Amino acid sequence: MFREGLLQYWWMLYRHCKTLNQRTDIFRNIEDSFAAKHGDQRLAAGNVYVDIGSGSSPVPTFLYQRCHATTYATEMDRTYLDRQKNYMQTLRLGKRDSFFVQKEDATRLSFDDRSVDLVTAVSTIEHIPGDGDSRSMAEFSRVLCAGGTLVVTVPTAPAYIENQSTFYYAGFERRYDAAALESRLYRPELQLIEQLYMVPPPPEFLEQFQRSFGAFLHGESWSDTWYKNGWHDRYPDISILLSVGMIRLSPDPGGSFGACLAFEKQ
Ligand SMILES: C[S@@+](CC[C@H](N)C(=O)[O-])C[C@H]1O[C@@H](n2cnc3c(N)ncnc32)[C@H](O)[C@@H]1O
Repeated sequence: MFREGLLQYWWMLYRHCKTLNQRTDIFRNIEDSFAAKHGDQRLAAGNVYVDIGSGSSPVPTFLYQRCHATTYATEMDRTYLDRQKNYMQTLRLGKRDSFFVQKEDATRLSFDDRSVDLVTAVSTIEHIPGDGDSRSMAEFSRVLCAGGTLVVTVPTAPAYIENQSTFYYAGFERRYDAAALESRLYRPELQLIEQLYMVPPPPEFLEQFQRSFGAFLHGESWSDTWYKNGWHDRYPDISILLSVGMIRLSPDPGGSFGACLAFEKQ
């Protein structure tokens, strides 16, 4: 995370999360920092920023306070629209601010063509069934201005897979292999400017970890153990140790379990 210029964004987001009373997460420590880095590089006052499927994300309010672009935190789910409104209250963002929370479907955005400078969709479009992910990418491209930035993060796997639900998400989720990323998400007018894949550490590191902590794992992977025991809620502050210890970042998708992708609209 340090080499990729993400660790300083994690630290700023971590402190922002403390203000919001929102926990941090092993995978979001990386994905959110990636989105924040690209947002920080791209946004200036007067720009327009749209986050898609904001959920409990700290990224829209973080980037708003840092870059002062007109910012939209958007969602389909009322619970999460309310969550983003609560963040506004916590941060005392009001009518004089250009921060908006509104309902948006990623596949049918209400924004005009070429009206947006940055779109972020962190762990969102893999949850839209059918060809919803490809339609979302077409929408993101439509609303972005030339030179605009798109940040998308999705889970990956050795082979493309669709699940109707998982133990950590009660809904549809797909995982992409390299071919599916290309066929479903890439578009000729979106030039890939950075790709970082989350990969496991070397086998000898994992073996040593297994020897040291095997008694707590009961034959499951470290990440399944973390979530199934509710340790993500109980011990969120140490999630960064697992992010930097158990996840390596690679420019190569081989063997990965997650992708952080940044595109520039041509
Ligand atoms: C796994 S959560 C990720 C939330 C947030 N981006 C984060 O990083 O924690 C996926 C979110 O996508 C939202 N979502 C699902 N389908 C959507 C759609 N068609 N348009 C916009 N958001 C959608 C869900 O309501 C959910 O909050």
